[in-house]
Amino acid sequence: MAIPKTVQWQGDATSGVVCIIDQTLLPAQRVFLRLSDTSQVIDAIQRLAVRGAPAIGVAGAYGCVLALRQGLGQAGLESIARARPTAVNLRWAVDRIARASGGDPARALSEAKAIHAEDEASCAAIGHHGAGLIADGMGLLTHCNAGALATGGMGTALAPMYVAQQQGRKFRVFADETRPLLQGARLTAFELHEAGIEITLIADNMAATVMQRGWVQLVITGADRIARNGDAANKIGTYGVALIAKAHGVPFYIAAPRSTFDPACANGAAIPIEERNGRELRWLGATQTAPEGAAVFNPAFDVTPAGLIAGYITEDGIKQAGQIAAWLGA
Ligand code: MRU
Repeated sequence: MAIPKTVQWQGDATSGVVCIIDQTLLPAQRVFLRLSDTSQVIDAIQRLAVRGAPAIGVAGAYGCVLALRQGLGQAGLESIARARPTAVNLRWAVDRIARASGGDPARALSEAKAIHAEDEASCAAIGHHGAGLIADGMGLLTHCNAGALATGGMGTALAPMYVAQQQGRKFRVFADETRPLLQGARLTAFELHEAGIEITLIADNMAATVMQRGWVQLVITGADRIARNGDAANKIGTYGVALIAKAHGVPFYIAAPRSTFDPACANGAAIPIEERNGRELRWLGATQTAPEGAAVFNPAFDVTPAGLIAGYITEDGIKQAGQIAAWLGA
């Protein structure tokens, strides 16, 4: 696969940097950023230069090495954990570094590398378990980007597609463009096209039409946080896709690693939903598309109720909502 590594650590704990591809510039430009300061990592996470729940967990973990090296202590780690509120992977990764490092940057780096390696392995296992859902000739639909760019490995929602392709099956993927920031158009279409998977880009408001026409047999998306009862937060618009899928009898699956499940959240109402700047809706890139004075509601995520979800593709196999609490030991 020609997809560049979304996040890497380069060098040792004393002088190394977090290296990310700036996803805000894809697909037009491939620019790599070398982040040597905690504030740069936080900024990259907040402006979505690095994004996707597992990827911000990995980037946040490496960011902790910088924070400890800069002598920022627990307050520095906390500022990284708070950079974005919805994806639980970020808090989970920072807490894990805090426990394992004892404040030592070198120990933090080895734990961050372990988190990265585990995420890569989880993605591969998710791909393996999910590939069995994809039959030759099928149409699939996905929302946002839950691929290699969003993780430390081959992705979550896109991983079963990569594995099914490796196994020789041919299928077609509809990618919702994913307003307002176009992760589906800019990132998923880019990734799948680079991988040689047949990709058809649609505007978000076309998902019902492609399902009504019978072109979609399976929906897979990622998630940012999944509650104990199976309610799942993911990119805004995912709930609508799940409702449309239900109306057309199309199974809707969530693919996510264990680190995206939050045993502390009983249900979706407990999941914090990030609200972002109204400029993201009033402007499309450099073009103003609405008056500056227009009031805007811009939640970055919505919650899909467990009842709409056919299953959760995890590194430990495909789970049903009723199995989650026991699997988490919660
Ligand atoms: O705002 P983003 O681009 O970080 O939102 C990303 C998503 O909603 C993804 O679907 C989710 O994080 C899963 S990534 C494997």
